[in-house]
Amino acid sequence: MCQAEIAGTGSYLPETILTNFDLEKKLNTSDEWIRTRTGIVERRIAGKEESSSVLAAHAARKALESANIKPEEVDIIIVCTSTPDILFPSTACFVQKEIGATRSAAFDISAVCSGFVYGLSIAEQYIKSGRYRNVLVIGSEVNSRIVDWTDRSTCILFGDGAGAVVLKRKESTESCGLLSSHIYSDGNLSSLIEVPKAIGRSNGLGDNDNPDKFHIRMSGNATFKVAVKRMTEVCLEALEYNGLSKEDVDLIVPHQANQRIIDAVLKKLEISSEKVFINIHKYGNTSAASIPIALDEAKRAGRIQPGCLMLVMVVGAGLTWGAAVVRW
Ligand code: UT7
Repeated sequence: MCQAEIAGTGSYLPETILTNFDLEKKLNTSDEWIRTRTGIVERRIAGKEESSSVLAAHAARKALESANIKPEEVDIIIVCTSTPDILFPSTACFVQKEIGATRSAAFDISAVCSGFVYGLSIAEQYIKSGRYRNVLVIGSEVNSRIVDWTDRSTCILFGDGAGAVVLKRKESTESCGLLSSHIYSDGNLSSLIEVPKAIGRSNGLGDNDNPDKFHIRMSGNATFKVAVKRMTEVCLEALEYNGLSKEDVDLIVPHQANQRIIDAVLKKLEISSEKVFINIHKYGNTSAASIPIALDEAKRAGRIQPGCLMLVMVVGAGLTWGAAVVRW
């Protein structure tokens, strides 16, 4: 049977750090408010020359190196981003060129913060069907380009970065690697978080004159509530699907949007906070990059050992949400 193992991980964070204290100087906010309401202390900001493809290529090279796989062995590159370099070609094509993955197909997917779990789910199907051997799944974002730096309710939340994994085919009769992925959307909740700039809508040309449309708008409080509900549900579904209980979980790697959302889900799941990996204090919400960055850091910090059962959970604009279960 074909199993999909995570053979390598990598991440890349821009050098520039923007702290809560820096934001205090520009906005009517405080380190204390941001820290207690979100858990965020600082975030990274991409340099002028650092687009999503640039960050993604750095993370991809590290993931390939840790998987001991050459770029020309990659079959598909999936870049999960809502901040692509340009409208088209896809950011994945730029990454392909940059890393020299000469044999691969490359495409982007758009599921905002849930992008990486959606990407994993696509890669899982290609590998378990036996069609492909090595799939590179990358989450990469330059959120700093689309936040409204005058809106204290959103700009304090987001940061830039990239994370990548190599999903590799492994022949085994035992279930291992990515055991299952579970993805959902509810388009009725599309207005909760959006960047309303029109591209294909007929009034798009008028909208393009209004720079305000090119910023993240979010109903934070409503998103918070639905995030807790949906992530709890999908985690329980993912465990049940695999015949596992909460006690079997060794590590949770959640989307890092808000420490309080993570705490609320853990409380509902009755899972100890000791089992969760957190890096939100350093990077804020890096959207599709959040989970693969955390995965890479958890791996390099020794939090992931062979046999470890890991649960990944996410929610994002769309509304989209999902979970994945991995046996390392
Ligand atoms: O990754 C995709 C999904 N996104 C999320 O999961 C984000 C979900 N939402 C959240 O994380 C939280 O809702 C926020 C962190 C965005 C906001 O926290 P909250 O506890 O829901 O605050 P709130 O929106 O209810 O606002 C409370 C107060 C308001 O003032 P009043 O009306 O009570 O006087 C806000 O104006 O806090 C005020 N406020 C701030 N004050 C200082 C909002 N932003 C700030 C700020 N600094 N940066």
